[in-house]
Amino acid sequence: MSKRVAILTSGGDAPGMNACLRAAIIKCKCEGYELLGYKHGYNGLLEQEFISLSFDTTHNLIQQGGTILHSARCKSFKTDAGAKQAANNLRKAKIDTLVVIGGDGSFKGAAHLSQFWDGQIIGIPGTIDNDIAGTDATIGYYTAIDTAMSSIDKVRDTADAFERIFLVEVMGRHAGFLALNAAIASAADYVIVPEFFKTTDDELNKIVKQIKARREQQGALSFIIVVAENVWPEGLLGLSNALHNKGIDDVRPVTLGHVQRGGSPVSQDRLLATTLGEFAISLVGTNHTNIMVGEVNQRPVIVPLEETWKHAKPLNDAQICAMKSLMNERY
Ligand code: F6P
Repeated sequence: MSKRVAILTSGGDAPGMNACLRAAIIKCKCEGYELLGYKHGYNGLLEQEFISLSFDTTHNLIQQGGTILHSARCKSFKTDAGAKQAANNLRKAKIDTLVVIGGDGSFKGAAHLSQFWDGQIIGIPGTIDNDIAGTDATIGYYTAIDTAMSSIDKVRDTADAFERIFLVEVMGRHAGFLALNAAIASAADYVIVPEFFKTTDDELNKIVKQIKARREQQGALSFIIVVAENVWPEGLLGLSNALHNKGIDDVRPVTLGHVQRGGSPVSQDRLLATTLGEFAISLVGTNHTNIMVGEVNQRPVIVPLEETWKHAKPLNDAQICAMKSLMNERY
């Protein structure tokens, strides 16, 4: 039966969102569904700013970073008045299914909307943070690891040349997935993630002990510390000052920032985005609603939306082990 489907991208954009849109557009065409794209996240839903997503849009789309629908964080959508307005607009536009590509904030928004709208809601995880439970990975995460890794590789060149200590801040909001994976992949010397952060004194003592031990063994050397954002009080400057107070000088801070959100998606993100985009549209018209589609062990899964934020997603045990033993075995 013909359906009217709407899709939007919300919150922090992530490489692969366009690949996901492409898959959804193609699948809708195959099924004979009409597909509208709301622009600027939930703002577009409130302002009725939408475009028709036709098959022509899909050409050369899979490799583009960002999102052709644009994105936003929409405060007014969080209010009951905002959600009711959005529900009215969806009814006016005769939408059967709303597909939301975004992170946990976007999913909470979608769940709130479901109190006022009885259409079908399907979430697709898209964020570089990978902090969504119920899926092994989120769209954009792999590309962001790659971007952080290649940036840290470059930092290492200059760090080695000057035998300096570098602090590299990696995004992740309040989760350490990106920092841990970027640190392992770039062979960083130390990583600070929120999941294991106890106190500044505890971390400082470990860092200073390791730098001193290595300097005793090898003389002057470079040392790269990957720091997840929002963990160290007062950020990299605070850590740099704290190291200075412990006698460690010539420390350089590098904040990778939004560079990590850009770029052409790597193959893993294109594959994940395509699988999830197709799978989400295959559920249109079924009883599945207020759900996220994710991937576990390379198989698509369906997860109730609220399960995606109820419990904090744990870091991968094997990776933690690897990083810990690689950090410690040398000292
Ligand atoms: O959620 C993705 C993310 O890039 C986080 O890693 C980061 O903390 C946040 O978004 C930055 O948000 P904004 O682009 O609004 O500054």
